[in-house]
Amino acid sequence: QEDNFKNVISHAKEYGYVFQSSEIYDGLSAVYDYAQNGVELKKNIREYWWKAMVQMNENIVGLDSAIFMHPTTWKASGHVDAFNDPLIDNKDSKKRYRADVLIEDHVAKIEAKIEKEVSKAAKRFGDAFDQEQFEATNPRVLRYKEEADTIMKRMAGSLEKEDLQDVKNLIEELGIACPLSGSKNWTDVKQFNLMFGTKLGASAESAMDLYLRPETAQGIFVNFLNVQKTGRMKIPFGIAQVGKAFRNEIVARQFIFRMREFEQMEMQFFIKPGTQGEWYETWKERRMKWHLSLGIGEENYRFHDHEKLAHYADAAADIEFRFPFGLKELEGIHSRTDFDLGRHEEFSGKKLQYFDPETQESYVPYVIETSIGLDRMFLAVFSNALQEETLENGSTRTVLKLPAVLAPTKVAILPLVKKDGLPEVAMQLLEELQWDFNVTYDEKDAVGRRYRRQDAVGTPFCVTVDHQTLEDNTVTLRYRDSMEQIRIPMSEVAAKVAGEVDM
Ligand code: GAP
Repeated sequence: QEDNFKNVISHAKEYGYVFQSSEIYDGLSAVYDYAQNGVELKKNIREYWWKAMVQMNENIVGLDSAIFMHPTTWKASGHVDAFNDPLIDNKDSKKRYRADVLIEDHVAKIEAKIEKEVSKAAKRFGDAFDQEQFEATNPRVLRYKEEADTIMKRMAGSLEKEDLQDVKNLIEELGIACPLSGSKNWTDVKQFNLMFGTKLGASAESAMDLYLRPETAQGIFVNFLNVQKTGRMKIPFGIAQVGKAFRNEIVARQFIFRMREFEQMEMQFFIKPGTQGEWYETWKERRMKWHLSLGIGEENYRFHDHEKLAHYADAAADIEFRFPFGLKELEGIHSRTDFDLGRHEEFSGKKLQYFDPETQESYVPYVIETSIGLDRMFLAVFSNALQEETLENGSTRTVLKLPAVLAPTKVAILPLVKKDGLPEVAMQLLEELQWDFNVTYDEKDAVGRRYRRQDAVGTPFCVTVDHQTLEDNTVTLRYRDSMEQIRIPMSEVAAKVAGEVDM
């Protein structure tokens, strides 16, 4: 698994998808840059989401609110008081960790033991193996499960009660050691706010303390009434937004899974109080459908319903994805009640209510939120697409099987040889196709090597111009995934490709 993930990171760099930020200065941890292909893949994911959410829903409109917001926003939203991570330092290594993550990692080791027992038993019993029954009855597995459960419950309880001393006690009782030095010499646990602060204004006296937004959602809430009125929106309706968010994450690992500067794609759906149960289920279903429409495989997704809810939610679920390091949160669907609008009413002194023309009543709407990290979606798509294949002749090829709609470049145009007028015909085709798609041209090396290069970068189609093209205007179209090649008239290439890559 670890090797697999390392391959993902190095492939992303080697093929111009993701670079470490400020690499020449040794990088900045948990900050990344999207390179020539990465920027295209990210744009395509963003557009795929925007199309499904805004274009295809008559009652959802877009918004692009500022990253800077009035500081009271974050008091109202609860972020100033409650957007914290519990941190602990190791006195010997001087390294800082998230206390909850240290405990979760410990629990993950217990869960790995369960998996080991299961796979051992699966081998032993063969076809007759019933995993569910085994997990429900095997004494060793049951003991591990109880151990993991007790630890997680105690941690959640202590964090909820803000009993940070007990979180430290738990770390000590479990004998958790510093991953770096092996030392068990820990400081007390302290809460650390994740928002980045900055200042607005020139002079020290008049400068105002601001935060970089930790989520895009609040920009939607504070604009709720402006959009509703000017767009003459009737409930139920939604506002969608894509934009940067910033969090001073301490556990900065797992590549672009957890970043300090990242992009969110969020939609707040405003509804009548009392209808949240239905709309919550509807949006869970719609969002899962969106994921499955990319053809990445149902087995890679699962819902995880939250038992412990954030201060603003009356129901919440994650859509989890099978990343190279396990099943982890990709998207959240939250039933946020009237918490946010209610708090903004309270803190701003302005009414944020909807007047229902049918019942002639005013009320603060309830909200269902869907929130997905664009970078995390990028990682999901990219890591799933990267495959090492053994071909019939025994050789291997590295291929990036990105969904064709998301691929950065749709077509590579390759003259078979660099002479006899083939490059000229190829360039002519390129100039025609680039009106519709991102197209690339490559004439260097043998055509087989060029195919492999395009496979690795994820280009779904290669078009080869050869001597026959000069006679009958046909070309070879090669499919990345099947490597099948067909001969078609040059004039049909655009339509053929469009059929597969249009969103
Ligand atoms: N408005 C709700 C909200 O922000 P969240 O669960 O904190 O909820 C939503 O974040 C999504 O944003 C997550 O499911 C994840 O995909 C993405 N996300 C959150 N923190 C992130 C980080 N540090 N790096 C990358 N993506 C992140």
